[in-house]
Amino acid sequence: MFESKSGILLVAGLAFFGFAFLSNAAVPYLMYRNIPEQTAEELVNGNVRFQFEDLSRRYPESFVKAYGDPPADPEAGADWWNQNVADSLREGRDIYVGEGCWHCHSQFVRPVSNEDKRWGPVSASWEYQNELQRPVLFGTRRIGPDLSREGGRRSNDWHAVHLFKPEMTSTKSPMPEYPWLFDGAPDKPNRRGLALITYVQWLGSWLESYPDYENYQPAPFEKPAEDSESEDE
Ligand code: HEC
Repeated sequence: MFESKSGILLVAGLAFFGFAFLSNAAVPYLMYRNIPEQTAEELVNGNVRFQFEDLSRRYPESFVKAYGDPPADPEAGADWWNQNVADSLREGRDIYVGEGCWHCHSQFVRPVSNEDKRWGPVSASWEYQNELQRPVLFGTRRIGPDLSREGGRRSNDWHAVHLFKPEMTSTKSPMPEYPWLFDGAPDKPNRRGLALITYVQWLGSWLESYPDYENYQPAPFEKPAEDSESEDE
């Protein structure tokens, strides 16, 4: 039997299956066995915290509605901010999964086709050893661009407008509109909208290539005035 064509194919098939199991299951398992999986709290860094505070200043009314009043002193209130960032990362990731963003966007820069020239550093396995990558969001196809280095590339208000109606920033975009992440207008993201933007801004925030906000000075949050028309800073 092994000398026939189908015998050779059978043996080769089983060997390739065994090889794939070794390289895709056994090796990664052995590599990560002793590395603890990071929690969302551990993933909060200065960059994403900067973006979250930026959201609070751009959309103070929506922000207070979603998260309540931030503590007056940014330094003393660090725990409040960090916990809300961590919660938003979890929430944002769930929305990313639920809205099917991964149908069209990958989160993996491959080491081929000069992908790093377009998107930034090639993905490394340690980047996936955390709670927000369970299950991993590599994605399977790319109708839109890879998002694993999307954070810090665009401003928060760009994301808000784009999510509300992608065509407003990207002509003829086939990306769906997500008006239910807003209370009616692109400058009124609701809690889900704020969480999703925080999550997108977090992507790649652990890399050197991210614009560096680590050393920014947190500024005190100013409560929105009752009359939202007077918006001078
Ligand atoms: C039907 C496919 C599709 C789905 C679903 C989709 N997108 Fe997109 N997305 C695209 C395409 C195509 C583009 C490029 C054109 C554009 O900018 O709109 C894009 C662009 C983007 C960009 C801008 C990337 C850049 O810097 O140029 C972001 C961010 C983004 N999408 C996030 C999301 C999020 C978050 C979701 C889920 C709520 C989502 N997308 C769902 C197709 C999709």
